[in-house]
Amino acid sequence: MGDKIKWGLLGTGKIAHKFAADLRLVQQAELTAVASRSIEKAARFGAEFHAVKYYGTYLKLANDPEIDVVYIATPHVFHCENTLMCLKAGKSVLCEKPMGMNAREVGAMIREAKSSNLFLMEALWTRFIPATEKLIEVIEKGVIGEIINLQSDFGYAAGYDPNSRLFNKKLGGGALLDIGLYPVYLSLLLMGMPDKIKASAVFTGSGVDASCAFHFGYENGAHADLVATLQENTPIEALIKGTKGSINMHKRFHHSEKLTVTEFGKSPEILNMPYLGNGYFHEIQEVINCLQNHQIQSSKMPHSMSMDLITILDKIRKEINLTYEGDDGE
Ligand SMILES: NC(=O)c1ccc[n+]([C@@H]2O[C@H](COP(=O)([O-])OP(=O)(O)OC[C@H]3O[C@@H](n4cnc5c(N)ncnc54)[C@H](OP(=O)(O)O)[C@@H]3O)[C@@H](O)[C@H]2O)c1
Repeated sequence: MGDKIKWGLLGTGKIAHKFAADLRLVQQAELTAVASRSIEKAARFGAEFHAVKYYGTYLKLANDPEIDVVYIATPHVFHCENTLMCLKAGKSVLCEKPMGMNAREVGAMIREAKSSNLFLMEALWTRFIPATEKLIEVIEKGVIGEIINLQSDFGYAAGYDPNSRLFNKKLGGGALLDIGLYPVYLSLLLMGMPDKIKASAVFTGSGVDASCAFHFGYENGAHADLVATLQENTPIEALIKGTKGSINMHKRFHHSEKLTVTEFGKSPEILNMPYLGNGYFHEIQEVINCLQNHQIQSSKMPHSMSMDLITILDKIRKEINLTYEGDDGE
């Protein structure tokens, strides 16, 4: 591994574009290669972001000996297969969320990373956003006391198209896995694993959840009320209520730039916490730090967190009867 960490990007869709723009802002990163299913798309993307090389198959990128780490930016259903291919070819991996379609896939990915002694992290960029770091600091200081309730929503009117990634069941479509994952992640980060889960959903004609609402209960009496929808625009905020005060993560809470901290009996304090680039800068920096320190996982987004997250998503899916091809391991 040289002075610069050499990145390969697998997939050239929407998120790959935003990520590649942020990669250019990170001094210790180089965009070494990009791969697409189409050589023409790879060439266009490579030229736009000044990649050193481009490939017309994912396998060629995985086998490029120059690459240190691959960013997987394909639809959810391919995350496991693409990650295993890269790990087996000796590459570290940053994989988009959700890391896999279910706990079985995530377990296989983690086992492969461990046995190959290679870095693997789910690209849960929310964890590395400065406002999230500040949120954790304020809560750990005890400013709002014990958390008793979390309310969070993630909704936008996506426009129903059964063939798009968002609604196509074969591509892992649906609100829960695409955006519901963010409020679930926030609850996990702040409150841990829930003891009780109740969920309900509205389904599209394509058989995925257009909207999904879930309620989590915790042994200590705390609870979380969370919602995700592709049917309407919602505030996309999070309100964390504690015994001594509350914190509002302003829109869009999963990459917030502003927190309002209210201690009971005091004036609210507004904390402006801008992020760099599109916000992906910070997770990229974390990956680079981990690689330079020879870690195979991040202490902030460890393998166990990805496993807990997918375990909750699996339980919600069971409650709403949302299944995908391959759930049974076939
Ligand atoms: N962290 C975030 O903020 C964030 C935001 C959006 C999405 N995501 C995650 O990133 C992943 C990709 O989302 P996206 O919005 O970028 O999707 P997208 O625009 O549809 O791009 C996905 C890319 O995957 C590749 N691909 C491989 N097999 C495919 C297939 N059968 N059908 C369609 N595309 C295929 C394609 O690249 P080639 O044609 O070049 O091979 C395509 O451009 C999802 O898992 C999503 O959860 C994360």
